[in-house]
Amino acid sequence: MEKTVRALRAIEILDSRSRPTLAVTLTLSDGTVARAGVPSGASTGTRETVELRDGDEHRYGGAGVLKAVGHVNTDIADALVGRVFTNLDELDQALIDLDGTVNKSRLGANAIVGVSIAAARAFAWSEGVQLWEFLRPATTTATLPVPHFNVVNGGVHALNSLDFQEFMIAPLGAPSMAEALRAGSEIYGKLRGILSDEFSQTGLGDEGGFAPPIDQPERVLRLLVRAIEDAGYRADRSGVAIAMDPASSEFYRDGRYHVAGESLSSVDMVTWYEELVEAFPVWLLEDGLAESDWDGWRELNARLGDRLELVGDDILCTNPVIIADAIKENIANAALIKVNQIGTVSETLEAMRMCREAGWGQFVSHRSGETEDTFIADLAVGSGCGHLKSGAPARGERTAKYNRLLEIEAAASLGYGLSR
Ligand code: PGA
Ligand code: ZN
Repeated sequence: MEKTVRALRAIEILDSRSRPTLAVTLTLSDGTVARAGVPSGASTGTRETVELRDGDEHRYGGAGVLKAVGHVNTDIADALVGRVFTNLDELDQALIDLDGTVNKSRLGANAIVGVSIAAARAFAWSEGVQLWEFLRPATTTATLPVPHFNVVNGGVHALNSLDFQEFMIAPLGAPSMAEALRAGSEIYGKLRGILSDEFSQTGLGDEGGFAPPIDQPERVLRLLVRAIEDAGYRADRSGVAIAMDPASSEFYRDGRYHVAGESLSSVDMVTWYEELVEAFPVWLLEDGLAESDWDGWRELNARLGDRLELVGDDILCTNPVIIADAIKENIANAALIKVNQIGTVSETLEAMRMCREAGWGQFVSHRSGETEDTFIADLAVGSGCGHLKSGAPARGERTAKYNRLLEIEAAASLGYGLSR
């Protein structure tokens, strides 16, 4: 498979939060044209690669990305156009070498990831295969993932007083992707009704989930169970279960968790999670503890690792080097997978391979700032990782991913769900 890059072009576009981001278009010499939109997070890990922003206060309050766009159109285009690549690893390595920093801060990880995603798509199409087929490692079985719908938003994604960032519903027991999406939409609708009765408003957070004025996680969990049952589903692992991402680094200060009106130690937090797991059908907990609290994570994994998928997001940053340490230290049993945290598709696939070989889960994720790009849907299918989160079953930038999964399901006969 020899591919020659004929042209590369980036422009500045808007993301779902009305902040600038990049759209990258890559053309191959065989005429294949592919585009990518770059996502952007709000509750970011400190060890994520660097999203380059202009810092010019006169444009978009400093959030413009014209420098990153310029890097694609000059430095990166100069390095890639006319060059022959035999695989995506080579192209991604060329980007890493050209940048020359450990955190992609010179060219900007936002510039680099846009090129990498566009290249992956172009290479797949040029081979005449679907993107998910192109991304599938030889040893895995492509599978439609269980969609995790974020239906209640808090933390830095909403203006309410809820400290936990995400409450998701997960149709683990659905027979297909289409039925999983239907369950998500029906439960979302019931929840809207319950919340508008109780609070007379159903404001939304950044990922399309409702942002009710609730500060106790238990109360949200009770409402979710009610909405699941009102919609006619079982609120358990054989029907629709619950997943939470407290994004706890955001409320961790001076060695304490400042949450729901209290100040808790890591051990208190683990005990609290044990109580929540006893009382509610929670099956997955992401970032239950902060990124700097490795001792706390070890305790969390020792006490809850056999009952829950414990996903590291801020603590791991999709970074193969950090994931290797975390596997060795046995501090979790799954990694969140966000392509823009590490900056290239190849490094993302490497992070996923390491998790797979260690028996860890891989939970593919969007960002709170999104575009209509659907790369993560194909990544989740091709990797066979079994689950993905892309926000609420509402709003175009979120449903684009879910609808892409429907398209894949309709075109290919693949299994659905988590095999673990
Ligand atoms: P972010 O949040 O995209 O704002 O970083 C998502 C998450 O914490 O999983
Ligand atoms: Zn997270």
